[in-house]
Amino acid sequence: MRVFNIGIIGYGGFGKFLHNAWNQMDHVQVTAISDLNASSFLHSDNVRFFTDWKQLIELPDIDVIAIVTEPSTHKMIAKACMDAGKHVLIEKPLAINIADAEEIIHCRDETGMVAVIDFIMRFNPLIHLIQTLTKQGVFGVLRRVDVENYAQDEQLPPEHWFWDPLRSGGILIEHAVHFIDIVHFISPAKLVAAHGFKHDRNPEQEDQIMANVLYEGGLFTTHYHSFARPGFFESTTIKLSYDIADIELHGWIPLWANINVLVNENTKSAILSNPLFKSKSIVPILQATDESRPKGWGISSTSLETNKDEVRSGGLIYQADEILTGTFRLPGSKQEVYADCVRSSLADVLSKIENTSHELLAPLESGLRSLEVAVLATDSARNC
Ligand SMILES: NC(=O)c1ccc[n+]([C@@H]2O[C@H](COP(=O)([O-])OP(=O)(O)OC[C@H]3O[C@@H](n4cnc5c(N)ncnc54)[C@H](O)[C@@H]3O)[C@@H](O)[C@H]2O)c1
Repeated sequence: MRVFNIGIIGYGGFGKFLHNAWNQMDHVQVTAISDLNASSFLHSDNVRFFTDWKQLIELPDIDVIAIVTEPSTHKMIAKACMDAGKHVLIEKPLAINIADAEEIIHCRDETGMVAVIDFIMRFNPLIHLIQTLTKQGVFGVLRRVDVENYAQDEQLPPEHWFWDPLRSGGILIEHAVHFIDIVHFISPAKLVAAHGFKHDRNPEQEDQIMANVLYEGGLFTTHYHSFARPGFFESTTIKLSYDIADIELHGWIPLWANINVLVNENTKSAILSNPLFKSKSIVPILQATDESRPKGWGISSTSLETNKDEVRSGGLIYQADEILTGTFRLPGSKQEVYADCVRSSLADVLSKIENTSHELLAPLESGLRSLEVAVLATDSARNC
């Protein structure tokens, strides 16, 4: 693979993180940076700096531009980059409204440039593993996802663009799209409806919001997000309830997941053979305690017949004879996993540039789909 020259527009918190992570990659060199604020630039050799991003996009040697500015600017900058013949990696959210997101997609189609959304969760090996096992049917049908995310606001003073809906779109659009996309990635299903509720700390700070979403096939999801806590007290859990498995992911960059799953010989070996898995117990279903009815409860009707190795759940019959519990855990810290994810996200763009038949993991359409859910739920919350 040849060496690719990368430009970064928007050199705040995340732009710098990308730069540091991408500096560790072969075949990649960040050679140009733009930010409105010149003092945010940390002088380094071989990197040109511009306060006007329009000068950066005119550089003939730049192959890919990462757009890491506040969300309301993504459409204008992304379109200009592609019109100038640059491939783009666009930070989430794709845009702050559907019309802008569709314009970006239209521009990609017109110009033929490679364009992706930086949905880093799709590159997290733990999310990827759960998606693969879900696709293989190891957990049965996914019925429910519940996201609880308590984020810090210490670095988000009241005047920060994050709180301005015209600049960020609000919490569901700016932030929850990551988690909405995890659902779409793990178990794609057509959207039926999305509603929302919110609470404003004061007229300028919408600091708690929730989306309730229904998909075809009976998948219910909820996304609760608050930006109100000190950083050390941040927490995120994502609970996935399938017909024959419960999974609880931990961390805003998920690093580990507890799992409780009904298995047969084949599905058991698919899980046990995974190097990330550590088993806690394997119990025959016939020996499992069933506390759904306390002792002494009368039987009101005869239960539906199933064979010894079968379990009925969600109206379906699954082959299973044991209950396996354990944990999937990624090696490495949040910092390491996060940096690996942003490297993989950029590597995906480069693979597509090198080989047009390469299938992108985070196409712009995934950004549009999660934005649609976020916009519906946000509008509903604001009209509540
Ligand atoms: N994928 C992820 O995991 C992830 C994580 C954090 C942030 N983000 C996204 O990255 C983007 C930036 O977030 P951040 O936290 O770095 O914000 P930030 O405020 O720290 O940085 C944004 C920078 O963009 C600069 N900027 C704004 N308008 C500009 C313009 N027209 N030209 C040049 N520079 C301009 C600002 O001066 C600022 O330095 C947002 O879309 C955010 O949602 C993504």
